Amino acid sequence: MPTVALVLAAGRGERLGHALPKAFVPLAGRPLLWHALAAMDAVAEIVRVVPVIPADALERYRAAVAAAPALRKLAEPVVGGKERQDSMRAGLAAVPAGTALVAVHDAARPCVRPEAVARVIAAARAEGAAILAVPVRDTIKRVVAGRIVATPPRPECWAAQTPQVFRVEVLREALAKAEAEGLIGTDDAQLVEALGVSVRVVPGDADNLKVTDPEDLAQAERWLARAGGAGA
Ligand code: CTP
Ligand code: MG
Repeated sequence: MPTVALVLAAGRGERLGHALPKAFVPLAGRPLLWHALAAMDAVAEIVRVVPVIPADALERYRAAVAAAPALRKLAEPVVGGKERQDSMRAGLAAVPAGTALVAVHDAARPCVRPEAVARVIAAARAEGAAILAVPVRDTIKRVVAGRIVATPPRPECWAAQTPQVFRVEVLREALAKAEAEGLIGTDDAQLVEALGVSVRVVPGDADNLKVTDPEDLAQAERWLARAGGAGA
């Protein structure tokens, strides 16, 4: 089942507060985006890796890729949109005919392990939709206007990560439905859930952090230095 990876890198990185867009911030000697591309490129099941980049970053992207070790499966970049979901839609439009599965990954997760990507792809191949996630340590509260309205049982609470992998027609249908109904999800699975499709949860690693604040950058740098391998 040919799998195409979309690496979403079209955000600005407001919370990181760096002069460069987050995707191009240096991390362990490479642009942050490159680590996510390299991790996807290293997965046997993935046949093509499509980067989704900011509209004004094409030249910067070309320079960044030219300066880094070549990646075999790297496709031409696609320009993203205002919201993450717009960027996902732009990437999805670039997925070639004959693709069975789409793995949507945030460039902001540079420490993902290729083995974890392979696990979630295998689950999606069997079940149609699967994501990486980790059990939460804290008790989660639903809070509205500063007051607790619910406490979901902690053993049922997981933090969603990426990649999130779907049969391509499931993701296309989920996106069309979300758009018809004005739903903007905070992840891709939410759109697929709204379609009534059940999504398998595959245990991931806590290391697969999302670089959001400057402290996360330091933590990711330490992890990549320790891990070596494809991303270093
Ligand atoms: N993303 C995207 N297009 C957007 C917004 C986000 O491709 N319009 C991507 C980001 O590049 C990132 C991932 O979605 O890899 C997760 O988003 P987030 O961590 O929120 O990154 P940013 O939106 O860049 O950061 P911030 O919200 O702090 O501005
Ligand atoms: Mg954002």
